Amino acid sequence: MDIWHIRGGNRLEGACFVQGSKNASLPIIAAAVISPARSELMNVPQLRDVDASLRILRHLGCTAEQIGNDVYIDSGPLAENAIPHSLMLEMRSSVIFMGALLARCGEARLSLPGGCQLGRRPIDIHLAALRQMGAEIEENGGEISCRAVRLQGTQLHLPFPSVGATENIMLAATAAEGETVIHGAAREPEIAALGEYLRRMGCRIYGDGTDTIVIQGHACEPELSYRIIPDRIVASTFACAAAAAGGDVELRGVDPEHFSTVLHVLKRAGCDIMCTKRSVRVRSGGQLTAVGDICTRPYPGFPTDAQPVLMAALLKARGRTVITENIFENRYRQVPELRRLGADISTSGKTAEIWGVDRLRGASLTATDLRGGAAMIVAGLGAEGETVICDDGHVTRGYEHFDSRLRALGADIYLEH
Ligand code: UD1
Repeated sequence: MDIWHIRGGNRLEGACFVQGSKNASLPIIAAAVISPARSELMNVPQLRDVDASLRILRHLGCTAEQIGNDVYIDSGPLAENAIPHSLMLEMRSSVIFMGALLARCGEARLSLPGGCQLGRRPIDIHLAALRQMGAEIEENGGEISCRAVRLQGTQLHLPFPSVGATENIMLAATAAEGETVIHGAAREPEIAALGEYLRRMGCRIYGDGTDTIVIQGHACEPELSYRIIPDRIVASTFACAAAAAGGDVELRGVDPEHFSTVLHVLKRAGCDIMCTKRSVRVRSGGQLTAVGDICTRPYPGFPTDAQPVLMAALLKARGRTVITENIFENRYRQVPELRRLGADISTSGKTAEIWGVDRLRGASLTATDLRGGAAMIVAGLGAEGETVICDDGHVTRGYEHFDSRLRALGADIYLEH
């Protein structure tokens, strides 16, 4: 059990390097298996999910190791196409191995994924698309087995721009005969990152980052290196922490475009935001103004993963903020915990209404999920007195050295394992 101890009230000052993106790293690690190549990945965060995906690669017969923030993979010796339940359970993104293994082996066996408890997380869009490409898929309880003697390129129309489904299709399509076109694809920066990695592998892919992605071809490069993009959700979290606690923080190594919607909201709330190509400076007097309505949407809309941390930053913002969560059905699990700090939040279905309070007081909380736990830390930094958060390993799934990075900015926080 991780226990976070936070004594709120310190302003955050200084510069902070933002880690590489977890959600870009995981599909790229899975993508490494599509052809027998050696990949060197840089700027990979040291996180449990990354470790879990490297263990999946080793189980499949590949060599895979992480040294600091570099990951070295040799997928030449891959010898397996089945992933045991215990490894699948550790993270939801393991479902991406379905498309990757289909591409490499024409066969994949795995069980339904684990991950955060954010409500129903079906994979029907993934399965329908792979079936349309010619895969035969059998579902038996939680077990899925897919086979395709030859995948066929085709025109796919996604009913919703699912990030995971778009990634799975891109991977499978690298081995398909002919051209695959994904209409209504997800446009997240992590999709464009996967596209770039696949191009370095020698695949022909166009349009990633737009809603129409064309995949024409096969990997052929035996060696490649790729630097993982910065984590826009971690960057958003630090920006929200500076906004909530007050201070002057420069985020380095980020791409401000990737989280401009979050920065825009913080600006409306009264923060000074200054961007260069690779950095963002957030200045906040600690007293914010409510921002009216915020709706989460697929990229380039406001990201659902930043919703809990933004909510935490606005708990003391003067006036009323209304959040509408459109992506996940159960993404307000942090709310009852934030209320224990004195927050005035009411929820009804997809919406949460926040009335800014004058002060928050430290309390004992329980982390509910990855971003919900991060939200509690952000709120604790802006609360008076001590906040203690019991956390069953949620927050460290997504944040590398979160406590020491916040401490370096002046926060009074420590993590007890
Ligand atoms: C990814 C991110 C996650 C982020 C989410 C939305 C990773 C590892 N995770 O998750 O942090 O919150 O994008 O930005 O990159 N859906 C279906 N059927 C499907 C697939 C999805 O109904 O086959 C629904 C989901 O239940 C959910 C919504 O679509 O309500 C979004 O899911 P999706 O975009 O697929 O998210 P993930 O790839 O799981």
